[in-house]
Amino acid sequence: MARHNGQTRISDVYAHPVGRDAIDKVLLQLGRSRRWVTNPVVANLPLAAVARLARRSVGPGFADAFLAVLADHPERSAVPDGPHDAAEPPGAAQPSSPWWRSAVFYQVYPRSFADSDGDGIGDLRGVISHLDYLADLGVDCVWLSPIFDSPNMDMGYDVRDYRAVMEEMGTLEDLDALIAGCHQRGMRIILDLVVNHTSDQHEWFHAAVRDPDGPYGEYYHLRPGVAGEDGSGPPPNNWKAFFGGQAWRWIPEAERWALHLFAPGQMDLNWDNPAVRREVAEIVRWWRERGIDGFRLDVINLISKRPGLPDGDDGIGDLIGFPGIENYFYGPNLHTYLRELRAQGFTRAPDEPEPVSTARARDRDGLIGDRLPPDPVGVMVGETPGVGVEMGRLLSAAGRGELDLVFNFDVLENPGRIRWDDYRYDLRYLKAYYQDYLARLGPDDHLALFIENHDNPRMVSKVLGDQDHIPHQRTAVAKVLATIQLTLPGTPFIFQGQEIGAINQDFTSVIDLRDVESRDRFAQLRQDGRTEAQALAEVLPGARDHSRVPMRWQPGETTGFSTGDPWQPGMEDSRGFTVLEQDGEPASVLNFYRNLIRLRRAHPALTEGDVHFCAPRSRHYFGWLRTGPDGEVWLVEVNLTGRPIRRPRQVLGNRLDAMLRRAGAGGADELAVVLGTTGTRGKVMAPYQVVVAGVGATPGVPH
Ligand code: NOJ
Repeated sequence: MARHNGQTRISDVYAHPVGRDAIDKVLLQLGRSRRWVTNPVVANLPLAAVARLARRSVGPGFADAFLAVLADHPERSAVPDGPHDAAEPPGAAQPSSPWWRSAVFYQVYPRSFADSDGDGIGDLRGVISHLDYLADLGVDCVWLSPIFDSPNMDMGYDVRDYRAVMEEMGTLEDLDALIAGCHQRGMRIILDLVVNHTSDQHEWFHAAVRDPDGPYGEYYHLRPGVAGEDGSGPPPNNWKAFFGGQAWRWIPEAERWALHLFAPGQMDLNWDNPAVRREVAEIVRWWRERGIDGFRLDVINLISKRPGLPDGDDGIGDLIGFPGIENYFYGPNLHTYLRELRAQGFTRAPDEPEPVSTARARDRDGLIGDRLPPDPVGVMVGETPGVGVEMGRLLSAAGRGELDLVFNFDVLENPGRIRWDDYRYDLRYLKAYYQDYLARLGPDDHLALFIENHDNPRMVSKVLGDQDHIPHQRTAVAKVLATIQLTLPGTPFIFQGQEIGAINQDFTSVIDLRDVESRDRFAQLRQDGRTEAQALAEVLPGARDHSRVPMRWQPGETTGFSTGDPWQPGMEDSRGFTVLEQDGEPASVLNFYRNLIRLRRAHPALTEGDVHFCAPRSRHYFGWLRTGPDGEVWLVEVNLTGRPIRRPRQVLGNRLDAMLRRAGAGGADELAVVLGTTGTRGKVMAPYQVVVAGVGATPGVPH
C-alpha cells in the first residue's frame, strides 16, 4: 500500500478516495473547475510543490495536515473487498435489494408538524393524527427529528435521556402508538440518533463532572488546564465550534476543559472509549425492540477524533472556516466504529425477541398486506457533513458493513457559495452535480436524494429569491425539485412542507428567530460592530428558522398547526400553499408529489432502473431516460431555467434512440406525457417546465 509523502504527485493524491474528495472540496469551495487538477502539468507536480505555490491561500502546514488524513485511511476501493473484521454475522446480511432502496422517506420535524394539545409545540399525537396524510402521499418511511428528552438548547440535538420522550412531545406510550400507526399503514419509522454528543444535562456528563478521574470522565473529551472562572485561559487546542467561538468550555467544578463541536451545552462523547460504544449499541437495540426500523445518525462522521486532539492547521481552518476540522471530520477509526455499531446495535441476533411492532407489506397499488418479518439489520442513514462522493462510498457501499445511505451536502450550495451567502441558487448546478455523482457510483452504491432539511433555508426561495411569492413561479420550481428528487436513481428524502411548495419566512426581527445558531451568529455580528439591520441581513439567508416554522395545514393564522401560539412564528403568505387548499386542486404541488410517488411505485424502472442522461452537455436542459429490466422506458426532462428554452436537437443521440425503439416507441416524440407542465413535448420548453413521459404509458392529466 503506497504511503504518501510530500513528493507524491497530485495525480496520485487524486487517485486516493480521500485525496480526491478533499481536493474536490477545496475546488468547490473556491468555485474552481476540476480541470485544474487533471491538467497534466499540475497532475505531475508533487504535493509539497503545489502547497508551496499555493502558500498564500493554504499556509505552510497544509501538505502535512493533508498527508496525515490520507495516512489515516489506507487506499482502498469503495467496492466491497471481502469480509471485514466486524462484518455482519451470517444470515444477518441485508437482502440484495433492501426496502429502503426504492422507498420514499419523509422527514417530520415534530416540533413544527402538528400540535395536539394547544401548547404551541408539535407533538407525537399530532404526528399520529396526520399519518393518513403521509400514507396517502405515498411515504414509505417516516423519519422523526429528535424527540428524546432534552433541554432543547439545540432543539433536541442535545439529548438528556436516550430512553425517554421529551415531555412536551408526549410519552413513550404515544411513541409506541406512533410506531404501530406507521406499521399498520405499511410505513416504516426511523428516529434521529444524536450520539456524537450528549446534552451537558445527561447523567453521564453529571457523573463526569462530579468525578472527572472516574469512569464517566472517560466518556467525554475532558482536559485539565488552567482557566479563570469565566473560562478565560488557553483551551487545549485551537478547534472552533460550528456554532461559533472556541470548541472548549471550562467546567469549573471539574477543573477541566470539555470539548463541544456544536453549542456549549452539547458535549462531545469519547468514542475511543469502548464503554461509550457499548452504551450506544445498547440504546439502538433498546429502540429496535420497540419496533423502530432504524436511525438517521446525526453528524456521524465526526465521532472519531485524531488521538491527542492536535491543533488544526491554520490554512485549512481559514479555507474551510473551522480550524481543527481535519482532525475529526473523517477520523482514523470511523469505519471500525461504524462496523461495530452495525454489528452490535443494528443487526438482529438470531435469538433476539421479535420487536413489538413491525411494518406490514404494502403492495404497489397501495393495499396493505401481512405483517413483515423484522428486518435483519435496521437501516443506518448517515448524516455526514463534509463527506464527499468517494468517502461517502467508503462509508455506505453495500457489503462494507457500515452505513446504508449517506447525505452528501455539496448539493445544497452552488460552487463557491456557502449557506450564509445571499445569492440565487442556479438550478443548472444540479445537472452537473447529479451527472457527475451518478457516473461515479458502482452497483454497490446508492444515492440519498435530498434538497431540503431542518438545517437549511427552503430551496424554492434560494432559487427564486424574492420572486418566491409569485404563485406560478413557486409552483413551477417546487415541481422541478420534486421531479429531480423522485425520478433520478436513489432514495428520496422529502422534508415536511416541500410537498406543498414551502418557502422562506419574511422575518423582520431577531426576536422571531429561535435557533441557537441564528441567535449566536446574530450576537457575534453585533459584537463585531454590525447594526441590527445589518446583522439580521447577514443571518437570514442561511437561517435554519425558515424551515422550522409550523406546517401549513390550512389557511388562517394558526395554519391548522395548533390552537395556541406556535413556539416558532411563521410569517410568509401561505395562501394557496396549504395542504387543505392544494388537496383538491389537480395542478397543485401536493398532487404533483402524490402522482409522482404513485408513478414510482407502479413502475420499477423509476426506482431500480438504469439511468442514461440525454444531451449531457446542454446547459439549460436536464434530461434522462430510466430503463427497467422489463423493457419499460421513461423519459424525464426539465428546463432548469426561468426562461423558455429550445429542446436540444439531439435529445437522445443514436444510442438512446435505439434503446427507445427497442422498447417499442417510434422515438422520443411518440412518448406519452404522463405528468408535467404541458401535455405535449414541443420544440420549446416553457420556463421551469417538466415532462415525465413513458413508452406505452397512459397519458395522464397534465399538471
Ligand atoms: C446536525 C443536525 O441536523 C443539526 O440540527 C444539529 O444542530 C447538529 N447536527 C448538531 O447535533
